[in-house]
Amino acid sequence: MATRLKVVRTVPALRRALELYRKSGERIALVPTMGALHRGHMALVREARQRAKRVVVSIFVNPTQFAPHEDFASYPRSFAIDLKALREANVDLVWAPSVETMYPAGFATRIAPEGAAKVGLEDEFRPHFFGGVATIVAKLFTQVSPDFALFGQKDYQQLRVITQMASDLDLPVKVIGVPTVRESDGLALSSRNVYLSAGERAVAPMLHRVLKDCAGRIKNGEKIDRVLNVGRIEIDLAGFTLDYLEARHALTLLPVESTKDGPVRLLLAARIGKTRLIDNIGV
Ligand code: PAJ
Repeated sequence: MATRLKVVRTVPALRRALELYRKSGERIALVPTMGALHRGHMALVREARQRAKRVVVSIFVNPTQFAPHEDFASYPRSFAIDLKALREANVDLVWAPSVETMYPAGFATRIAPEGAAKVGLEDEFRPHFFGGVATIVAKLFTQVSPDFALFGQKDYQQLRVITQMASDLDLPVKVIGVPTVRESDGLALSSRNVYLSAGERAVAPMLHRVLKDCAGRIKNGEKIDRVLNVGRIEIDLAGFTLDYLEARHALTLLPVESTKDGPVRLLLAARIGKTRLIDNIGV
């Protein structure tokens, strides 16, 4: 039975715990999260278990990736339940710093990602987001110095931005993308799904259906522009406010006109009621 889960809240305590692993030559895999864990997060933990002897999960709701009007204060928090799930999944260490530990008074350094962080997708609607994510993930990478770090393809642009950052800064970590975990009706699992009303929850799976339809038609040779225009109308008619539905190069996230331009990823963000949902799929 797994009872060895250790929770640390300060940088010195984290260093002491990691030192023991390193002394024994054990490889470390890191799964960064903001808590409110669901089966999507746990898929990352399982993949981490496959890769390394020691699995570290960070739980930190990072204020710098939320805009003032966003849901930082109300973001779902379920620390005790999260710990139980992590213990059952044989996680070794939970890194759960306070905001003051991560951003002490006088904190004055930020990572400003470009490239995939500036392509007019999430960055257009959440301009502060990737700066906050890159800064906190860079800190997590330097604090934990993991051999592997696991991220979900659910947040596809985030995965690309972090992969690029690790490469640009020569961080000795292998960033691994894990496929999106979905409900049986196709809705991508998200900590924010709890915000959906029953009615909204019932229509939400249509987003994945539209992505799948669009990917299938593009694969069959239909014109990307035309296919996406139909998809946009369907999403609109279902009652969403669409932020974007786009076809992009799967690595650079730059616009593509046809499948001849390289591997294609379809990405969308749409709002319904007070919830903003994102999803994506490969063509
Ligand atoms: P959070 O939203 O908690 O997600 C943590 C990790 O779980 C991310 O890598 C995300 O892509 C992954 N994930 C979420 N839903 C998933 C699903 N349905 N299937 C597979 N993976 C899923 O993303 C963040 O936190 C933060 O931005 C963070 C990277 C921790 C930086 O603060």
